[in-house]
Amino acid sequence: MPRVVVVTGGSQNIGLAIAEGFAAEGAQVIIADIQPPTNSDFIFHETNVADEFSVKSLMAHIESDFGRLDVLVNNAGICIEVPIQDMSTEQWDRVMDINVKGVFLMTKHAFSIMTNGISESPAIVNISSIEGLGANPQHSVYGASKGAVASFTHNTALEYGPHGIRCNAIAPGWINTPFNEKFLNQYPNRAKVDDEIKSLHPVGRLGLPEDIANTALYLASPQAGFITGQEIIVAGGRMAKLPLPKL
Ligand SMILES: NC(=O)c1ccc[n+]([C@@H]2O[C@H](COP(=O)([O-])OP(=O)(O)OC[C@H]3O[C@@H](n4cnc5c(N)ncnc54)[C@H](O)[C@@H]3O)[C@@H](O)[C@H]2O)c1
Repeated sequence: MPRVVVVTGGSQNIGLAIAEGFAAEGAQVIIADIQPPTNSDFIFHETNVADEFSVKSLMAHIESDFGRLDVLVNNAGICIEVPIQDMSTEQWDRVMDINVKGVFLMTKHAFSIMTNGISESPAIVNISSIEGLGANPQHSVYGASKGAVASFTHNTALEYGPHGIRCNAIAPGWINTPFNEKFLNQYPNRAKVDDEIKSLHPVGRLGLPEDIANTALYLASPQAGFITGQEIIVAGGRMAKLPLPKL
């Protein structure tokens, strides 16, 4: 029987690359997103991860149609660019609701189906960010939300481990998706800033959605059977490089 995998926010970019990676391995992939996928080969279940009713409906659908859930990838996330002084409580809550409460609700309601005895090595992969480890300007709530995802990953590993579920996070660095466009468009010289951002990476390039997908596939595989409660940084060496004026 193929593994059953659910990817939140899987309709485009990083989430879609993850969905495509699992599908290429023969898994049955369900995309749970507020909008339909750009690749219509997938089963789509319209889901708002911040809404408990919506998450429960997704899990009921997976239970009745597949009877198992092997892998949960909590990828859905949003970012807003607002200085702390200008941020409303509604803006704060919106980011926290999707990025943190969404991970909690999915993790909570996936438990019973992931532990029904059918999955051989169930696993959860959360997508956090290097912004949970260091700050970019105007990203306070986003950074706080991703730090919370990393922390929640530790607790999930602790509580779910005895039930056979491993849980890890991936902290992507700069992945080349439209997610970063609003931020980049604030710079007057876009070509220059693109080059400068590239130069922050010892590997000499920006990240691709496939870089995150490949890591998710590994973390959800039996080869990663002794890895849980970890946050794996996938950032082309950017976090290993101390800032210094160019020689
Ligand atoms: N792109 C990057 O550089 C980068 C870096 C670090 C971390 N990340 C994280 O990776 C993840 C994916 O990033 P991306 O670049 O593919 O972003 P994206 O905006 O292209 O995709 C996010 C997806 O989440 C969906 N989504 C939004 N709100 C939702 C909700 N309430 N319920 C269900 N789905 C919802 C969107 O419809 C979209 O399909 C996010 O969690 C993001 O924070 C991205």
